[in-house]
Amino acid sequence: MNSGTLAGIAAQLMANDKGLLAIDESVGTCNQRFAALGIAQSAESRRRWRELIIATPDLSQSISGVILYDETIHQATADGRAFVDVLASAGILVGIKVDTGAKALAGFPGETITEGLDGLRDRLQAYATLGARFAKWRAVFSAEDGTPSPACIKANAHALGRYAALCQEAGLVPIVEPELLMAGDHDIEYCGKLSQTILETVFSQLSAQRVLLEGMILKPNMVLAGSECVDQATLDRIVDETVTCLLRSVPAAVPGIAFLSGGQSPELASARLNALNAPSATKLPWPLGFSYGRAIQQPALALWGGQDANSGLAQASLAERARCNRAARSGAYVASTDVTP
Ligand code: 13P
Repeated sequence: MNSGTLAGIAAQLMANDKGLLAIDESVGTCNQRFAALGIAQSAESRRRWRELIIATPDLSQSISGVILYDETIHQATADGRAFVDVLASAGILVGIKVDTGAKALAGFPGETITEGLDGLRDRLQAYATLGARFAKWRAVFSAEDGTPSPACIKANAHALGRYAALCQEAGLVPIVEPELLMAGDHDIEYCGKLSQTILETVFSQLSAQRVLLEGMILKPNMVLAGSECVDQATLDRIVDETVTCLLRSVPAAVPGIAFLSGGQSPELASARLNALNAPSATKLPWPLGFSYGRAIQQPALALWGGQDANSGLAQASLAERARCNRAARSGAYVASTDVTP
């Protein structure tokens, strides 16, 4: 492992207020999103959609890295250029989702453990050879019905630690993603407490597995009230709870925090990131950025609808959302100039 290279990749991912774009939905998840919009669910549809995204003009002005899925990293444009080459020539770093999904955790109904450690060393090597420079693994926790259990948090944190260590051995920067879902009627304080416990456990496992903190990126949820909570928090409260949680649990050596969007609307995901980066906000040890999937893709996917004639409109929407989030990294996002339809 070359610690300087890992730190360099992590710095590049966070540099110039740019952020990450996650287009790493599994076949099942991508098909579900297509089905909801009446788009054909086939490998060719998924390839066309991903080609549209990575060929978006000027995407690299706001996006430093794109996270691909196994199917996608092997695909090419209609005129035969490998997706990894298209991204590399735009100066965008290639990332790859390497977990194999959240599966039922035995003995803990309703809870999941993210799998994918078996054979991971060989898969990482193969992805690095294809041109990947960073990887992603998502652990997912529910905040409903008394979950997550300590056992679920510990098992997932342990897997994140094992994954991150293997990534660094292969020269890939691990994106460490523990996501506490928004679903539920819990208040923001509850989300903050649980998020803190999860992050403390994750960093304890990263340390136990000798993960180089300078060579990773943390991808957490923002601290928010549950989506069904009647008492939705103000922007100020979200900033306060999120910053408090992160300051209590994330070591200063971590070179960057890139939030997931988690089902927030595109505009809220930008506005909240903006508030976290307001010039008046507390000075923090790490830059706060974004690694959004739905909050960048969703309006564009609806505009595209599977029709080539709509590709230009969809690309304009993607570029606009990416631009908004880049602006939010310096507190310069202005909701009134957000032209997302
Ligand atoms: P969302 O921004 O849609 O939550 O997706 C981010 C991601 O990569 C989930 O693993």
